[in-house]
Amino acid sequence: MEKLELIEQAKAVLRLNDSGRSTRPAPGLYPHQWLWDSCFIAIGISHYDTKRAAQEIYSLLEGQWSNGMIPNMIFSEASDNESARGHRIGSGFWQSTRSPYAPKHKQTSGITQPPMVAEACWRIAKKMSGEEGIAFLKTVYPAIVRYHTWLYGDRDTDGNGLIALFHPWETGLDNTPMWMSELRRVHMPLWIRVVEFFHLEKLLETLFRKDTKYVSADQRISTIEALMMTHVALGLRKRDYDTKRILRRAHFVLESLSYNSILLGNNERLIDIAHKIGEKIPEDLDAKFKQARKNLEMLWSEDINRYCHRNYLTGEIIPVEGISQLLPLYSGAINKQRAEILVSALLDTSKFWLEFPVPSVPKNSPYFNPEKYWQGPTWINTNWLVIDGLRKYGYENEAEQIRQKSIKLVEKSGFYEYFNPLDGSPAGTNNFSWTAALIIDLLS
Ligand code: GLC
Repeated sequence: MEKLELIEQAKAVLRLNDSGRSTRPAPGLYPHQWLWDSCFIAIGISHYDTKRAAQEIYSLLEGQWSNGMIPNMIFSEASDNESARGHRIGSGFWQSTRSPYAPKHKQTSGITQPPMVAEACWRIAKKMSGEEGIAFLKTVYPAIVRYHTWLYGDRDTDGNGLIALFHPWETGLDNTPMWMSELRRVHMPLWIRVVEFFHLEKLLETLFRKDTKYVSADQRISTIEALMMTHVALGLRKRDYDTKRILRRAHFVLESLSYNSILLGNNERLIDIAHKIGEKIPEDLDAKFKQARKNLEMLWSEDINRYCHRNYLTGEIIPVEGISQLLPLYSGAINKQRAEILVSALLDTSKFWLEFPVPSVPKNSPYFNPEKYWQGPTWINTNWLVIDGLRKYGYENEAEQIRQKSIKLVEKSGFYEYFNPLDGSPAGTNNFSWTAALIIDLLS
């Protein structure tokens, strides 16, 4: 297919999902605004409409809490009505105003998501004229500083520079095997065990699940996984999203490799923004950035020769494999030698280098399932992060191969949410916004 034709089709998907001031990830299934989705979406839109791209970010920042947190979901009245059809976890579930920091004028969730905001703003500004770009960056800079300050102030309570997460949804990689195995190990309540023991999943799916009306159940998370995630979210709500209260009784807090890698990459973009507009990163925050760069190495395991996640409460390394192990490339914080070890795992045909790379779980993992959400399929946003990371370390050739395969996936199967890495067949929902937006970016 012609490059221009594909770009036009991608723009049509983004128009379809445009709800005026922000963009839905997909019709029906995802009717709200999501944090990292909007960042990827804005990166794509910036290639043809910088004002609309900036608007995507402004509306995201309208949901920012007064303590600096940017929530993973922001609801609008219209989308909340739609949620009654498509998405059960709406504003009534989160009740964000239980926290004194939540905005009064906007309903949001009570947790965050990968902090791609600095990266998105930096790229949008690059597409604007000099002055306009600087004005845009000046407008968004204080909010991004407040967000990163909140992350290091609120979520790095042991002071090691690594951010701790409270919920799998905060990684954006929802049911990635590492989180699911940890949840099962440390925090599986009796009532969910009973549901599993008596095989009541099917009944609960029919009664309560709405996502499986849009996408076949074997491509979504399992009902047990959904119950575990809802249970953890209710625990956070019960403590009014207050970090101190959450940590007092926490079973389940993880230092996520993917999240910390993405944050490090975005710290660098925030430093670029500060330079560009003649600002200085506040001293304390700058010190944190340096410590965080150094301490990503705490997630390296000599025994298994790769980066891992870490249990915040016990300090144990969690050796479950997944796409996260390649994301330190995007951080730009690791040395060349370690980058090379990551690239050899990427190029291993028994792991990540499949017909349509990069799968969210390596093929030789016991958890690998080529169609099941974050447990095997290839996603365009993680491909984009891997491509960017490979380029940071000079692996142009490998980056180019993943870029071409990503485009081929969409030409072959459409703008789907994710794809089977073995044959490129589509999975999840169609007309998915970040797939469309990032294909525009990869083609440009
Ligand atoms: C799913 C994805 C998450 C994304 C959201 C909206 O929950 O796992 O990463 O932000 O959908 O697209």
